[in-house]
Amino acid sequence: MKVIVSAGPTFEDIDPARFIGNRSSGKMGFAIAAEAARRGAEVLLVAGPVHLPTPEGVTRIDVRSAAHMHEAVTSALPASIYIGAAAVADFTPQTFSSTKLKKQTGSETLTLELVRTRDILADVAAHALRPRRVVGFAAETNDIEHYARGKLAAKRIDMICANRVGMAGSGFEADDNTLQVFWKDGDATLGPAPKADIAVLLLDLIDKELA
Ligand code: CTP
Repeated sequence: MKVIVSAGPTFEDIDPARFIGNRSSGKMGFAIAAEAARRGAEVLLVAGPVHLPTPEGVTRIDVRSAAHMHEAVTSALPASIYIGAAAVADFTPQTFSSTKLKKQTGSETLTLELVRTRDILADVAAHALRPRRVVGFAAETNDIEHYARGKLAAKRIDMICANRVGMAGSGFEADDNTLQVFWKDGDATLGPAPKADIAVLLLDLIDKELA
């Protein structure tokens, strides 16, 4: 069984000195990759810029931008499961400046033109080599079930794991996490627990509900 996991943020370069990024430590995705390998799966971890060691038994590809991550994930298909735990940038600068952008004297504002990135999760779910199980993540501050179920349907994925962000002890950068998981016929709350334990519960849930 081959499992592809994406993890961490993506960095979208503005110029040689600056980028736009997401707040993501990569810990949840790395914990999922570690647990899948422990269960005997062949695991490919596509990691954005993070400071984490590669889990035992896991093959890792390091990427920087959303476009790199899209290329690495789609060219690794086919697989049995795709788990998109990465906090992929939704927008990237329209142009990269090869020289450092300078402050304009007299101007108090800077306008950056951003364009949408390609949606890796939706593209994997629509791919001719679609994995049988496609699982996404969502970071939400409010109306969690409404927004999470909206993404489940819009991206045509099988399961979505919502993180409540903007609260202590949950989501970005923390060691513990709580996930509200939704699929077509049900939902579950995992945690609060250390991310390693959440990974065990999530893979059990995928096995049971998306058999
Ligand atoms: N995702 C992706 N490719 C993108 C953007 C997001 O694969 N270009 C994936 C993430 O890996 C995650 C899920 O989509 O699994 C997050 O969904 P998204 O719609 O990006 O969530 P938000 O950015 O939180 O959306 P919104 O701002 O609309 O709440």
